Amino acid sequence: MKRIAVFTSGGDAPGMNACIRAVVRTAIYHGIEVYGIMRGYSGMIKGEFVKLDSASVSNTIQKGGTILKSARSQSFMTREGRQQAFDQLVNHGIDGLVAIGGNGTFTGATLFEQEFGIPTVGAPGTIDNDLYGTDYTIGYDTAVNTALEAIDKIRDTADSHDRCFFVEVMGRDSGYIAIPCAIGGGAEIVLIPETQLSTEAVIDILRNGHNRSKTSFLVVIAEGDEEGNAHVVARQVKAAIPQLDTRVTVIGHIQRGGAPSAADRMLASQIGIAAVEGLMNGMRNVMAGIVDRKLVYTPFADTIHKKKLINQSFMRMVEILNA
Ligand code: F6P
Repeated sequence: MKRIAVFTSGGDAPGMNACIRAVVRTAIYHGIEVYGIMRGYSGMIKGEFVKLDSASVSNTIQKGGTILKSARSQSFMTREGRQQAFDQLVNHGIDGLVAIGGNGTFTGATLFEQEFGIPTVGAPGTIDNDLYGTDYTIGYDTAVNTALEAIDKIRDTADSHDRCFFVEVMGRDSGYIAIPCAIGGGAEIVLIPETQLSTEAVIDILRNGHNRSKTSFLVVIAEGDEEGNAHVVARQVKAAIPQLDTRVTVIGHIQRGGAPSAADRMLASQIGIAAVEGLMNGMRNVMAGIVDRKLVYTPFADTIHKKKLINQSFMRMVEILNA
């Protein structure tokens, strides 16, 4: 392998820069040339390639976002788009790719490899932590800590004004961000897509608390929960228990930004090194991840189709901690 390229795709996540840095420095360490592709698959199609050297990634390990920028490309989902991307890679003499992203990124990489045979190793970069094949994804730890910091502040107002707050966190179709936010934030209830807690059950729990003279409440809702978003749940609760002074906070994109935590910098660096060395050892169509503290390479097909299950004992923990 003589020349590889690295890109970030999908939602940005804290630690992506640390991973890019590790990819660049590992390639240089092994005498491989490395290019950065701007704006993910979209930049690959348009030929937005930049040569990277060691200095290109200096002073980036602590920065949020991605220096290579990111995008969700519709064109890459077409055969024509992928053909253009392949032509660009050939023109630039690229013989291997490191793709930093999530499910959508690896779905695109799988199709690409099947059609054009470009070897790709993935790095799990998403705040959602919803990827099978790694215990944690790059950006998850930081996002949880950012959300928890916001929740701590919201609790001050909930407590001072005797209010019931419904706080919506990100996570797409998974409750991985919501669970530690609920347990760490001392929430009465957590609503996640993986388990079904009806609005009636939420109302019962809050009514019981109210009858026990509890004055403030926190309900954490994952954005992908079946019962709907925080505004919908809050409206239904208010209609059933009018005495509750309800408020809604959607934490939103601040969860995606900011300096990566120590854990994310460490994970991103480990994975970046593993991705390049995986390519050098002939791996393709796999994602590098850490499971039970060990480096593993999981086929893209599994990361895309297998579900990383949430430990159901976490729901019980929320219940017990509210006794
Ligand atoms: O995948 C990361 C994520 O932040 C999800 O948690 C969320 O559902 C989605 O991206 C939001 O995407 P966008 O920034 O495109 O609105």
